[in-house]
Amino acid sequence: MKGKAIKDGIYWVGAIDWNIRDFHGYKTARGTSYNAYLIMDQKKVLVDTVKTTHTEEMLDRIKSIIDPKEIDIVISNHVEMDHSGSLPDIMKIAPDATLITSTNGEKGLAEHYDTSKWNIKAVKSGESINIGKRNINFVHIPMLHWPDSMVCFIPEEKLLLPNDAFGQHLASEYLFNDQNPNDIVMEEASKYYANIVYPFGVQVKKAIDALSNLDIDMIAPGHGVLWRTNISNILRKYSYWANHDNSNKALIIYDSMWGSTEIIANTIKSSFEENDIPVVQRSLKTSHISDIMADILESKYVAIGSPVLNNQVLPSIASLLTYMKGLKPKNKIGFAFGSYGWNPAGIKEIESVMSGLKWDLPLSQIDTKYRPGKDDLVGIKENIDTTIKSVGID
Ligand code: FEO
Repeated sequence: MKGKAIKDGIYWVGAIDWNIRDFHGYKTARGTSYNAYLIMDQKKVLVDTVKTTHTEEMLDRIKSIIDPKEIDIVISNHVEMDHSGSLPDIMKIAPDATLITSTNGEKGLAEHYDTSKWNIKAVKSGESINIGKRNINFVHIPMLHWPDSMVCFIPEEKLLLPNDAFGQHLASEYLFNDQNPNDIVMEEASKYYANIVYPFGVQVKKAIDALSNLDIDMIAPGHGVLWRTNISNILRKYSYWANHDNSNKALIIYDSMWGSTEIIANTIKSSFEENDIPVVQRSLKTSHISDIMADILESKYVAIGSPVLNNQVLPSIASLLTYMKGLKPKNKIGFAFGSYGWNPAGIKEIESVMSGLKWDLPLSQIDTKYRPGKDDLVGIKENIDTTIKSVGID
């Protein structure tokens, strides 16, 4: 294991988690990385650490450059344990190091670890330190995505170290974005935004404003590959997502017991197709809710369907609704649909979540008793067609 130079005197010393597939409920089909960085200047600075499972890998990479005892400063940009997990080990190995964190970070770390012997310096937003040839500027980005979140900027290197922001859950043997297929990097960046950052659009806009005056030529996030090209593109994408802008696309999500809800889903799909609106259809029997969130991020129309079971939606749909409610997607046109035997109330649960998210609901719930008949489907199709035409095609 060895550190990898990302700039002259600055090294990636993180770890790659090739095999993780569940990141607190987020399906990480391509694994992830925990990125830590070592800056070799008059002061030796470690920026963030890794998950406890990968402490030895990080230490090995640091040891390929210096003895970890020589670290003077440890920066903790974020308290969540995938970045702070190895702090107790580092602070034991380098007990004289100063740990720099945000004011909220100091409190958060004390709630996770015994920090009583750590030499902690809490920095305010806008503060800087000099480490020799370089300065490190600190900018707090509270709730992007924890209260403690902070970014570092090194002006002499045009290097932004934003921790979780601009990350992707992507394990790769190649460190930089331009060494990896762009469609995969962007797919994972959008999935990451949809599953981690989505609720914090207001904070993203503030952060983008704060960063807009900086001259950045590399973004080195806490997960995934480092951006050294297409920087304006990822910043623009974050602004687009934070504004809750959508593509003129439709997404149909459903589960089915005996096929009736699936028949309605197929009918809704054909309406969008025939109106030349690109449509994605996802069954919860085969798609994971975290993959579906990435589709929701990009779609203007979102239809969600469930049969009614014991007067409620199916548990798979309830899980999606709970997850989606927390991530707060906005600016959607929603359709709740499904089939029922004797009580259509369950489908109202879908409509109620959409309504709570302030989505436009041009049709009241689209449902059929038992199996949809030909007339039912013709009626559903006509209603969806009319709605699409009334919304207009971009
Ligand atoms: Fe990658 Fe919020 O931790």
